[in-house]
Amino acid sequence: MELSNKIKKKFKELFNEEPLIVRSPGRVNLIGEHTDYNYGFVLPAAIDMAVYFGISSRSDKLCTLFASDMNESYEFSLDKLLYSDRVWPNYLIGIVDQLIKRGYKLSGFNCVFGGNIPIGAGLSSSAAIEAGLAFALNHLFNLGIDKLELVKISQKAENEFVGVNCGIMDQYINLYGEDSKALRIDCRSLEHEYFPFDYKNISIVLFNSNVSHSLASSEYNQRRKECSIGVDIIKREVHEVESLRDVSAGLLNEFQNKIDPTIYRRCKYVIEENTRLLKACDALKIHDLNTFGSLMYQTHKGLSNDYEVSCKELDYLVDLTLNIPKVYGARMMGGGFGGCTINLIENEAIDEVSKYVTENYKNKFNLQANTYITKISGGTNIISIKENATA
Ligand code: GLA
Repeated sequence: MELSNKIKKKFKELFNEEPLIVRSPGRVNLIGEHTDYNYGFVLPAAIDMAVYFGISSRSDKLCTLFASDMNESYEFSLDKLLYSDRVWPNYLIGIVDQLIKRGYKLSGFNCVFGGNIPIGAGLSSSAAIEAGLAFALNHLFNLGIDKLELVKISQKAENEFVGVNCGIMDQYINLYGEDSKALRIDCRSLEHEYFPFDYKNISIVLFNSNVSHSLASSEYNQRRKECSIGVDIIKREVHEVESLRDVSAGLLNEFQNKIDPTIYRRCKYVIEENTRLLKACDALKIHDLNTFGSLMYQTHKGLSNDYEVSCKELDYLVDLTLNIPKVYGARMMGGGFGGCTINLIENEAIDEVSKYVTENYKNKFNLQANTYITKISGGTNIISIKENATA
């Protein structure tokens, strides 16, 4: 059964009415990693793995949540928003918290959600849950919130309620994604540009390392801190610098002796990554996937050696593809320390490459890597409107 129908069926079973159905996708990031919180550029795309929400309003203040993949429910009242000691409810309560803090009027609601974005794989299942609910509530209660504000609300929910200090990329692409297009986001101006990414003979293939190191969130916050230490040192002398976006490679060089070598490497990576991303977009404009792919490999090197957010499993998954001509590019994707690598592979070679990579990976780490062939899809949208709801 289609996932959306499964959610609808469960919703009717639990609440005996027809829900509004919203689809909220996961994402890949083609290039531009750890640049969003440094006010640089990213190039993500929404994909065909998604979370589906069935939702309807209630006349009281109760919010009833049901996570169908876990078969767990959770209830809370709009009058009293508390942190849950379970992880998943906080993504949703955090959205309600943000809406209330911003003065939006809500009533209670019933919500069933579930989907096929693998959790912990770096495909932003959390942003899909947050932005999906924000979008659904906006529609359900006619709140009139524009998309960019929904993005900010969703990011803030994750920062404040879930306690992860993420940048804006995941929530942004979740809401702005379009079919067959990657989105270049300028994380400083919050403007964007679409880049067609639709190749008949090439697919975006993910290899899930199936490792998630406990280091991930503490090291993520540490990298943010290291970048801002670098910025502060430069800012002392060059006052107009507010983020690494304002620092050129040349300017950073002038400060090499004044900056701790580790911090220097972090800053260098971010500055180079922004330059790489702009080159990658130029390559996309002329459909030069060879150049695009080699920039992805360079990104991986930078993430592994200078930014130090990779791990031996991800390095190995990337290394395995290095000498296969039908693989254009590969790199670790997302926050790091586990999750997936993203690969551009010629369709006719996918089976063979996947077999080669997963077998070698299994032999080396005794771990199974999953292969996902993704399609770039649209952002969060309504797929079926409750009969008596306003569109
Ligand atoms: C995570 C965060 C994003 C971004 C990436 C790294 O996915 O949620 O905001 O910082 O890591 O590029």
